Amino acid sequence: MSKVSFIGAGFVGSTAAQYLALKNICDEIVLIDLNEGPTKGKALDLNQAGATLGYDTQIKGSSDFEDLKDSQIVVISAGKPRDPGMDRMDLIRINREIVTSCIKQVRKFCLDAIVILVTNPLDVMCYVAYQEAGMPREKIFGMAGVLDTSRFRTFLAWETGVSKGKIEAWVLGGHGNQMVPVLEHTKIDGKPVGELVEKDKLQEIVERTRNGGGEIVELLGKGSAYYAPGASIVEMVEAILTDSKKTLPVSVYLQGEYGYSDLFLGVPAKLGKHGIEEIVELELAADTKKLLDDSVEEVKKGIESLD
Ligand code: 2OP
Repeated sequence: MSKVSFIGAGFVGSTAAQYLALKNICDEIVLIDLNEGPTKGKALDLNQAGATLGYDTQIKGSSDFEDLKDSQIVVISAGKPRDPGMDRMDLIRINREIVTSCIKQVRKFCLDAIVILVTNPLDVMCYVAYQEAGMPREKIFGMAGVLDTSRFRTFLAWETGVSKGKIEAWVLGGHGNQMVPVLEHTKIDGKPVGELVEKDKLQEIVERTRNGGGEIVELLGKGSAYYAPGASIVEMVEAILTDSKKTLPVSVYLQGEYGYSDLFLGVPAKLGKHGIEEIVELELAADTKKLLDDSVEEVKKGIESLD
């Protein structure tokens, strides 16, 4: 029996649950949120959509953390999203408490589950959760790089007219303004990106990617993105549930990889049924490594502000 639980049934959690149900790869999905009525309503609605869309996954809405029992994966997106004009780092104080209390519930009811963090500021909240959980790093990590990479690939697809599926890219580093699209490993239909997109345009796309979440926050006026975040969560959940060993950008606790230690940072990692099965060290150009250093500084500042 496979069971995936979402703590936080706002737009991100419920959209991810919807996409996961559509994949038909798990028996049970639980949405947990203190806002009980609407969460039960969403779950009921999602169950009924399955009759038309062809899935039999059972979806339960609950405000009782005991329903986490027997989960293989717990996705935590509970927390406050950004308001227009806010930086993700502005959320540290409030979301730290929320994440800590969610991890306490995970420890109580499903200690063996793999935990995927989504709450912002992502890499700092992963650190908070990791400290609280006392779990091996293979089993607790964050979703951000898949999302950032999907934004980068989308903008490159629009620029070149090539299908998004034919764009290979990696966005590494922290999920903040200093994230690092790795240009030397970016290919458009197999060709190096520099052959198809001129330098200034490429830099514009890099900047738009870095501000990808903020652009949507401004447009929505209230709340933050959820369709692409939901899809990105499901890509990671699918790799774990199906034991695919797919390599994806994941915020992982580093212990010397890429020359960094004692922080969470987006790097390529192989995901399978045990969680992180390998951290992949790409060869990086000197310029990219420098940008990654800057991103590390940004994440470190966030971690230091926890004291
Ligand atoms: C984003 O980038 C919410 O951080 C999330 O859209």
